[in-house]
Amino acid sequence: MKKRVLVVAAHPMLENSRVNRALLDAAALCTGVQVRDIYAQYPEQMIDVQQEQALVDEHDVLVFQHPLYWYSCPALLKSWFDTVLSYGWAYGESTSKLTGKAWVQAVSTGGSEGVYQRNGYNRFSLAELLRPFEQTARLCNMRYLQPFLTQAADTLSDAALHEQASSYAAWLDNLVAGDWPPDVDSLQAEEAQYLAPANGVEAS
Ligand SMILES: Cc1cc2nc3c(=O)[nH]c(=O)nc-3n(C[C@H](O)[C@H](O)[C@H](O)COP(=O)(O)O)c2cc1C
Repeated sequence: MKKRVLVVAAHPMLENSRVNRALLDAAALCTGVQVRDIYAQYPEQMIDVQQEQALVDEHDVLVFQHPLYWYSCPALLKSWFDTVLSYGWAYGESTSKLTGKAWVQAVSTGGSEGVYQRNGYNRFSLAELLRPFEQTARLCNMRYLQPFLTQAADTLSDAALHEQASSYAAWLDNLVAGDWPPDVDSLQAEEAQYLAPANGVEAS
């Protein structure tokens, strides 16, 4: 059975974005995928919690698409988590309304894969840095799936970005088809990495 996929996109300056805009344009063409640009939806940053919860209710997979900002997500997405994932709905008391749904992130980073390593410029792998999201998903009784990464985002050639946008569309199509990326439990991982380490370490 087809899965209903919601892309919650968060970029505070989409008009200046190159990567996330290209990915969002690709997502918008995918059948079975609903795109929600929360900065456009909430210019005053006042999130309508009931509306967001109703939307989440209708979907099986939540894709959080965002650039990495200071090793985390843009502020409005954090605010979305703080308000929408409320006590008694997302966690606590009885069972979570989110039980069995999938949480997956589509993250772009200025840094390359090589700088997100123990001996790299950023010291920690992305899997380690994304652990607060992983644990949030877990607390909400959701499946936390391997993210879709676009790294060295600021230096991607037009051709590479075009290819990445096509890969994103194919990745979203697979989510709709129920062909999901592996579940991640970084606590169990010997080395908290999603991807094979790159050869050598580059400066960002
Ligand atoms: C406020 C801010 C914080 C950022 N923090 C990080 C960071 O922690 N790690 C990183 O690799 N890139 C960081 N970057 C770079 C962005 O992630 C990168 O420019 C973005 O993913 C490119 O996507 P876009 O073209 O859609 O903006 C930051 C950029 C800004 C503006």
